[in-house]
Amino acid sequence: MPMKGKLESSILPEKLPAHIAIIMDGNGRWANVKNLDRISGHREGMKSVRSVVRAARNIGVRYVTLYAFSAQNWQRPKLEVDALMGLLKHYLSTESDTLIENGIRLNAIGRLRELPEDVHAALDDTMEKTRHCRDMTLTLALSYGGREEILDAVKRMVSDGASSPENISTANFSSYLYTANLPEPDLLIRTSGEMRISNFMLWQLAYTEIYVTKTLWPDFRKGHLVKAILNYQKRERRFGLTGEQVKIREVI
Ligand code: IPE
Ligand code: IPE
Ligand code: MG
Repeated sequence: MPMKGKLESSILPEKLPAHIAIIMDGNGRWANVKNLDRISGHREGMKSVRSVVRAARNIGVRYVTLYAFSAQNWQRPKLEVDALMGLLKHYLSTESDTLIENGIRLNAIGRLRELPEDVHAALDDTMEKTRHCRDMTLTLALSYGGREEILDAVKRMVSDGASSPENISTANFSSYLYTANLPEPDLLIRTSGEMRISNFMLWQLAYTEIYVTKTLWPDFRKGHLVKAILNYQKRERRFGLTGEQVKIREVI
């Protein structure tokens, strides 16, 4: 068992977010500050991915979802898109043993058919190899857009013939989303200080607690994750109720 730091041991296990979603932003700016090319920022960002995934699993978080490539990111320069796809493929082909050792199941959401064939194949392969893992589910959002996800759900509903108005409910609609098998995120972390959602999990974030840090993604490591969780644990989640109602529910 890895040693727990002082901050980490103040995490309350009973208030642990079950699902943490992260908008990993700021790779380009990190590189810029260091006079490096943007791709070096993405490469360093992969180290943060490894560190944060391992830390979340050791803390006991059950679901982590990482926004790795948006539907809109295809519009970036080809050189950058190709480099990101290359890094992703490298991550998938080198990480499966570590994922298995740590009991981490890999999952993916997004318009995955738009990924290059070799990346898609590497993704399928790692998902298959980690299917039996039960300690944590790591979901990569790839070629992902929240609006695109909602449209894809509506299209599937209509083509399934399940579209009679009285059958449509929040639960039924959720089951058509890419995230049908995932709980909604409890905590959303966005690095690099931007106060926006950027088309991420528009439906699922309805009652998610949002934590924005100025830290750029390549600098974000275990200690930053612990801080975000501790901040989350101080919040009162009300889901539309009054603070008093929430307190009564807590004692029941
Ligand atoms: C996040 O970092 C990685 C992806 C969006 C793929 P950025 O590449 O957006 O970095 P900034 O926002 O330009 O600094
Ligand atoms: C969001 O970051 C997408 C990912 C982190 C993959 P962007 O850098 O693409 O978002 P904007 O352009 O700042 O809104
Ligand atoms: Mg960005």
